[in-house]
Amino acid sequence: MKALVLAGGFGTRLRPLSCTRPKMLFPIGDQPMMDWMLKNLSQGGVDTVVMAVNYMAEALVRYLGPTKYDLGIIYSREQRPLGTGGPIKKARDLLNGEPFLVLNGDVISDIDVRRLIEYHKAKGGLATVALTPVSDPSRFGAVELDWEGRITRFVEKPEKGKEPSNLINAGIYVLDPKIFDYIPDGRAVSIEREVFPLLANERKLFGFEFHGLWTDMGTPDDYLKANQIILSKYEGVKMGEGAKVDPSAKIMAPCYIGPGAEIGADSLIGPNTTICDHVLIGKGCRIENSILFPGAAVGDYSSVKNAILGENAILERWVKVESGSLIGDYSMIHDGVTITDGVSICPSKEVTESILERRQIM
Ligand code: GDD
Ligand code: MG
Repeated sequence: MKALVLAGGFGTRLRPLSCTRPKMLFPIGDQPMMDWMLKNLSQGGVDTVVMAVNYMAEALVRYLGPTKYDLGIIYSREQRPLGTGGPIKKARDLLNGEPFLVLNGDVISDIDVRRLIEYHKAKGGLATVALTPVSDPSRFGAVELDWEGRITRFVEKPEKGKEPSNLINAGIYVLDPKIFDYIPDGRAVSIEREVFPLLANERKLFGFEFHGLWTDMGTPDDYLKANQIILSKYEGVKMGEGAKVDPSAKIMAPCYIGPGAEIGADSLIGPNTTICDHVLIGKGCRIENSILFPGAAVGDYSSVKNAILGENAILERWVKVESGSLIGDYSMIHDGVTITDGVSICPSKEVTESILERRQIM
């Protein structure tokens, strides 16, 4: 079984962190998020993955290489972004023959792809979309499902209050090779806006409802939720080699502390926290529900809550970083500064005064 992974988006809502690495390489626990997806595909009987890459393609190629988890990995490079449908058409010769899987590269899920494929074959449609229930379907592709499991309406980003249901496209599909006839050549195509509504009209689109773990990684909050889901699989605290935790510090599970990381006296870390390799945390710090990229440093008595610190970002002492904030790589936040909710700070920026309203600091 082959799978195509759409891995070429810009990750705009995760800037500035996505300015220097593709979203699929953002760390969660001890691995980039992409690894969690590849492992699930390998366990589900996939043997070949076609990575549709565009933005920051080289970083992905360098990291993944030609094979991982017993999967052969082939890259399909776009000269310019082809959207979510164009890359499928472009990879036609690599995918032809049998029904194949397509996954949005920014989705974390424990879906059983074998069952999805069996269901697709049993229904005999042209495409089967995995569906998951969410509380706000307006951010996604929402569907109307009939009693036979047929999708009778597919609406991408429906207006609030006008969603056909709370079941959404999980970004995981099985497509029949006949799909290629529905995707125009040589231009960007949105499969959600141009192809699925057409298939729904022709009664050839089916939905497979599943109730396992699922989240996408659109926004900082989504990323933190993905982190929480993955860390919960560790069932405790996972420590990397050579990580040092002061005996008076307290680590609350689930939590990951990477190799070479150091946690100072009386600090309280976790739950739901990824501390990547070589992160330094001083004395009396409080880090909760957050992700700290490799080499980040947190000075004494600082706190980070529901936030993300980029690679080698530095917080001096008595710094407070609040919910949904993103601190860019190599930026430096000086003593006593408070960064309020939803602020993003550009890479290499120095911040000397508190930022008390939601904005981007360039
Ligand atoms: N190769 C390539 N080229 N990949 C792309 C391109 C492109 O030009 N544009 C986007 N992608 C990839 C993104 O990297 C992502 O993995 C996937 O396609 C979906 O794009 P997003 O930009 O993340 O879309 P979304 O999250 O707003 O909506 C999509 O995902 C939802 C589930 O998470 C839609 O498929 C919705 O219907 C769905 O509910
Ligand atoms: Mg997305």
